[in-house]
Amino acid sequence: MYVCICYAVTEDDVRGCLAQGACTAREVRAACGMKPGCGACTKRLYGLIRQYGTEADDERRTVRPTAA
Ligand code: FES
Repeated sequence: MYVCICYAVTEDDVRGCLAQGACTAREVRAACGMKPGCGACTKRLYGLIRQYGTEADDERRTVRPTAA
């Protein structure tokens, strides 16, 4: 699904940028080649960043160190 149809940026593009270390909407926009956008794509972008952070937190909580 498109996050920004103007610059053809998809949710997968955004997740890829987040996985490569982008942390903020500004960083994701720069990495994906998006200019500061309209309100609609900005909302979708913030939603994806929040979702990605929650998923990463969940992953960290489920990973348990193993005894050596
Ligand atoms: S959807 Fe492209 S700038 Fe907002």
